[in-house]
Amino acid sequence: MRPRTAVIPVAGLGTRFLPATKAMPKEMLTVVDKPLVQYAVEEAFAAGIERIIFVTGRGKEMLADHFDYTPELEESLRNRNRQDPLQQIRSLVPSAGCLIYTRQNEPLGLGHAIWCARHLVGDGPFAILLPDDLVWSGPQHPPVMKQMCDQYESLQHSMVAIMNVEAQETNKYGILDPLTAPESSTSPLVQAKGLVEKPAPHLAPSRLAIIGRYILRPEIFSLLGKKQTGAGGEIQLTDAMAMLMQNHPIYGFLFQGTRYDCGDKVGFQMANLALAMEQPEMRTRLLPFLNTQLSHWQTQPASSTNS
Ligand code: UTP
Repeated sequence: MRPRTAVIPVAGLGTRFLPATKAMPKEMLTVVDKPLVQYAVEEAFAAGIERIIFVTGRGKEMLADHFDYTPELEESLRNRNRQDPLQQIRSLVPSAGCLIYTRQNEPLGLGHAIWCARHLVGDGPFAILLPDDLVWSGPQHPPVMKQMCDQYESLQHSMVAIMNVEAQETNKYGILDPLTAPESSTSPLVQAKGLVEKPAPHLAPSRLAIIGRYILRPEIFSLLGKKQTGAGGEIQLTDAMAMLMQNHPIYGFLFQGTRYDCGDKVGFQMANLALAMEQPEMRTRLLPFLNTQLSHWQTQPASSTNS
């Protein structure tokens, strides 16, 4: 059994990106030529997901519009025989009924956002993709959610994508406490005996950080329904998963690919640069620019005081 449903939460306030996200959803920020949410939707469908539940909020209507028809634009492109962009925007619209929207009325945390989808998910395992984690797998590997769904088919247990982070970074992530040292195995799967949300480096049980891709059992909803607040006063998904683990195993999955934290300004710029460099035409033009600017950047102090 593979997950057929994915939840994409998009109701966060995106405060780290203000002022850009004052009126525009963070998930519509563009990496090269596509909004973040589009990367997540394409990844979900490439994994065999059949329906996507967006947990959205006030001021996020633009997200639904992005995946709908735009008759005036299409007409204009057709009249000018601009077939490529026409095809591009039409292929953005999935079959009717495949995208489902519900609202999180208050941004009380990721765990609460997922709980808002409880009546729509059904009884089977479901995937979660956080659009501000962009995972680039390149042409060499399948998209990360497909990697996970393939593993899930034989494992049939809840799973989170994990990656190794620097010791001083553990306080930015949910951290997995492994049952056995991952070095002792060649498998990409690491069974968890605990999960800790944003531990200080000296308290972290490992450096295995959870990133925004999950496959969970629906039992998580009753645990999220307890609405216990955790780190940052928010209802945390990691805390509910730690409770789920008392009765159901949870595995970390060391995925193949590079994850960019596009919820953070620096990670977002890295994603733009890295993905632009994957396109031959852009690389040809960007590389000389970067080469000539590099010595300037290395020797001259930055001129702006904004962080
Ligand atoms: P983040 O914590 O990175 O998003 O949540 P945020 O709260 O919008 O960001 P900052 O820290 O204020 O800049 C990861 C994902 O979960 C969603 C976000 O929209 C994002 O896609 N989310 C988060 C919700 O849907 N609801 C919430 O209450 C919190």
